[in-house]
Amino acid sequence: MIYDEITKTYPVSLPEEEPARQYAFMDILKAELADRMQRENRMFTMHVETFGCQMNAKDSEKLAGILSYIGYVPTDSEDADIVVYNTCTVRENANTRVYGRIGYLGRLKKSHPGMRIVLCGCMMQEEHVIEKIKKSYPFIDVIFGTHNIYMLAELLYRREQSTKCVIDVRKEADRIVEDLPSLQKYGFKAGVNIMYGCNNFCTYCIVPYVRGRERSRNPIDIVRETEMLTKNGVREVMLLGQNVNSYGKNLEPGMSFAELIREVSKVDGLQRIRFMTPHPKDLSDELIEEIAVNPKICKHVHLPLQSGSSRLLKLMNRHYTKKSFLALVDKIRERIPEVAITTDIIIGFPGETEEDFEDTLDVVRKARFMSAFTFIYSKRSGTPAAEMDGQVSEEICSERMKRLLDTVGEVASKEAERYTGRTETVLCEEYREDTGCVTGRLDNNLLVHFPGEKTLLGEMVSVKLSECKGFYYIGEQSSDL
Ligand code: SAH
Ligand code: SF4
Ligand code: F3S
Repeated sequence: MIYDEITKTYPVSLPEEEPARQYAFMDILKAELADRMQRENRMFTMHVETFGCQMNAKDSEKLAGILSYIGYVPTDSEDADIVVYNTCTVRENANTRVYGRIGYLGRLKKSHPGMRIVLCGCMMQEEHVIEKIKKSYPFIDVIFGTHNIYMLAELLYRREQSTKCVIDVRKEADRIVEDLPSLQKYGFKAGVNIMYGCNNFCTYCIVPYVRGRERSRNPIDIVRETEMLTKNGVREVMLLGQNVNSYGKNLEPGMSFAELIREVSKVDGLQRIRFMTPHPKDLSDELIEEIAVNPKICKHVHLPLQSGSSRLLKLMNRHYTKKSFLALVDKIRERIPEVAITTDIIIGFPGETEEDFEDTLDVVRKARFMSAFTFIYSKRSGTPAAEMDGQVSEEICSERMKRLLDTVGEVASKEAERYTGRTETVLCEEYREDTGCVTGRLDNNLLVHFPGEKTLLGEMVSVKLSECKGFYYIGEQSSDL
């Protein structure tokens, strides 16, 4: 692994404990930036971009929080004083996108030499990526991975003391640092990390290698963060972890995910709780019961299938079969008839035959998913599947993808149609000036567009679901429920 390559020149009397130490660096940078703002008589801007999943997005909010504390103002433009790319490496195309965009940043920096470019996130945990960046993109200023994002201010400070790129990528997290600033993307909904890392090692997946081992956050910190968010206007939280069912296993005393979600639901003013992602292998009856009885928990379960073939599921190291997955779906539907079940599916895992693929289509039909994220298998070096025989050709993958999308489309629109004519509570999440329409999200994650005012953003309102358009509804605001 790569460690920083410069001599550390810290100011005297820096606190040793976190987060006090990071606040000290933020304060130094803040004072320096205030000076520069006065000298140059302008605002300094930041652009933080997320390339990955909800956890990556949550990290971006923390990074933006630190920069905002220092005094940078957010901008949509990449021609900013500081640009942060929070990268993802779950599939090859995520990497390709990042490389393309870094090239563009290099050209921007030529006409804006004071610009600082920071690369962080999952992709930076891979040694070959760091080698490539060092060789091909010498204009990068700071690089770190997933384990020390709390150190952004310290690393920026070190960059100012040096003439070289500062690289600090760690193999494992040494601690969970709480209470750093955060700048939320939305005022009314927010993600809350409940755990970091993953121990499952599904054979296709790189996440355990770049995010490290499972670590649960203390429930008191989770509840405290939820309370703080709710006080600031958040109505809905999404509890985030690679496998939320493993929550609490390394805590002393232990705590189950169902117990945690019950605790979080006691927060006053909080109206909705979502969570992502439960692994089908260990979704407990206790959790199903909690979703059924707790009115704050959304009746939506994202249950990643990956494949419907028991043979492939074994090769994927998923620890369930076609039969046990379908039995789980039946059990959830029996206890929570209103539930919407969504999923993730991978096409073209090594050795996938037509028969394996037919099994996947069969599960899609039987499980009646409300929607599915569908991916073509991407070979990740270092994972067991990358070494497996029978990599599936691109033509076969795209032909299967087309058939999968047709089947998902058919099943999903039938599922969505069940709600036609009903009046449901939605959280208003977006407003479009050109159409004068508000987009609201139902408890079950379906979207509905309806005529409304911008002032509705962040409000919970009743909407009649008039017309189903497949994946979404057209509706009208209603006064009755
Ligand atoms: N922890 C979550 C998923 C994280 S990654 C879970 O277990 O469900 C999100 C999704 O990306 C996965 O569900 C899987 O469908 C997909 N994925 C992961 N690795 C992939 C790969 N190598 N190729 C294609 N899709 C992949
Ligand atoms: Fe990857 Fe499997 Fe962990 Fe999900 S559970 S992050 S798919 S290894
Ligand atoms: Fe998420 Fe991508 Fe990392 S999916 S955990 S940002 S590899």
